[in-house]
Amino acid sequence: MDSFTLLSPAKINLGLHVSKLRDDGYHDIDSVFVAVTLCDELTFSEANSLDLVCQPPVTTTPTDNLVYKAAALLQEFAGCTGKGAKIVLTKRIPHGAGLGGGSSNAATALLGLNRLWNLDYTPDELTPLARRLGSDVPFFLNGPVAHVTGRGDVVRTLPLDIPWTVLVVTPDLHISTPWAYQQIDAFPQRNPPSESTASIVSHLLDNYALDANDLNKGGYNKLVNDFHSCLATQLPEIPTITRRLHDAGALYASLSGSGSAVFGLFTSVETATTAASALAPYQTYICAPMNSVEQT
Ligand code: C5P
Repeated sequence: MDSFTLLSPAKINLGLHVSKLRDDGYHDIDSVFVAVTLCDELTFSEANSLDLVCQPPVTTTPTDNLVYKAAALLQEFAGCTGKGAKIVLTKRIPHGAGLGGGSSNAATALLGLNRLWNLDYTPDELTPLARRLGSDVPFFLNGPVAHVTGRGDVVRTLPLDIPWTVLVVTPDLHISTPWAYQQIDAFPQRNPPSESTASIVSHLLDNYALDANDLNKGGYNKLVNDFHSCLATQLPEIPTITRRLHDAGALYASLSGSGSAVFGLFTSVETATTAASALAPYQTYICAPMNSVEQT
């Protein structure tokens, strides 16, 4: 088989409610995940052993990369430890930003090697492997839009067409996910939301479709990311960016996951582009939801 390339998208969270700590050390969450067109790429070709090349190069050992772990897990699951692959991972998604880059790479590795090795597993059959690789990995097999609950591993694909242009802003801050969840535990009791994030997003989209001029700005207030208020005091740059996105015309702005990326939702590429200029010199990415983007 010739080599082939798959896109490995980032995700944003439309709302993220975090419940209390579970006995297994994880937290239950409630969020709508949306894959966006800010993408890494993985190119797969046949080889005698597993070989992972990262572009730009990284200092960490390749076997520590989730892509390598996904490949080893699939080999073991399929009983094909003799099969090899060369995987070239081209990184664009910022690390430690709550955009799910590593999780997406792991899921894309499962999908790509499933194809390269002619294994023919369905996404459902790959999902238990994805779960073992990380809480966010199953979403990337079952997107591009999904209601995500459990520790992040219970994924219900939503047949929603997401209309907004997304502007992602990445401050020079690396937030470790376990650290962010520890801060949540130390934060005063959060009010459970009255509705699931899936229902809030669905109502927003109904109103959006009914009248594009009545954008129901107020409805966006229901979409809360619990990490935002929890991390705001320690990391004041985050609420500052959120405010600047609102000032620049965002219908909604908040953290993605546990941060540090902050994103805004805009009605058009033009308004997002103007906002990106207003946010300079921050690194920004204008992207679209992966509603209809075809894989190569
Ligand atoms: O599953 P993943 O490896 O991404 O999780 C990393 C860490 O983040 C976990 O060990 C846990 O401390 C925290 N976490 C959590 N609740 C979740 C997801 C992650 O507490 N739902």
